[in-house]
Amino acid sequence: MVELGCGGGHNLAHLTTQGARCIGIDHDPAKIHLARACYGHLPRLHFRNGDAARCLGDVPPGSVDVCLSIFGAFSFTTPGPLLAAVATALRPGGQLLIVLRADAHHDYITVLTRR
Ligand SMILES: C[S@@+](CC[C@H](N)C(=O)[O-])C[C@H]1O[C@@H](n2cnc3c(N)ncnc32)[C@H](O)[C@@H]1O
Repeated sequence: MVELGCGGGHNLAHLTTQGARCIGIDHDPAKIHLARACYGHLPRLHFRNGDAARCLGDVPPGSVDVCLSIFGAFSFTTPGPLLAAVATALRPGGQLLIVLRADAHHDYITVLTRR
C-alpha cells in the first residue's frame, strides 16, 4: 500500500498494524522527518521524501495493491501525471482511493480499480 501525501504517517501507522506493508510519500521533508521519528520503528512501514508521481516511478510496475490519497497529493497536484504513475504502479485489480474534502461537513471518497 502506498500513501501519496502521507503527512506525518498516521494513516499508514494504523494500516500497517492491520498487516499491510506500506510506503508513505510526501514532498515536505519536515513531514517525512516527523513520520520517521514517530513510526520509523514499525517494521512494514517506510517513508520516501519527494513528489508522489516521481517517487511512485521508483516502485516496481504492477507491484502495488492500493494507492491512497487521503487529503493528500491528489488534493494539490495536477492529476494527470500522478494518475499515470498510479496506473503503472498498481497491479491489475489494484485500487486507488482518493479522499477529498468537499466542505466542513462532507468528504468525497472515490475508489478506482485498475483494469
Ligand atoms: C492535508 S495533508 C494530509 C496528510 C495525510 N494524508 C493525512 O491524512 O494526515 C497533505 C499532504 O500532502 C502532501 N503533498 C501534497 N502534494 C504532494 C505531492 N505532489 N507529492 C507528495 N506529497 C504531496 C503535503 O506535503 C501534505 O503533507
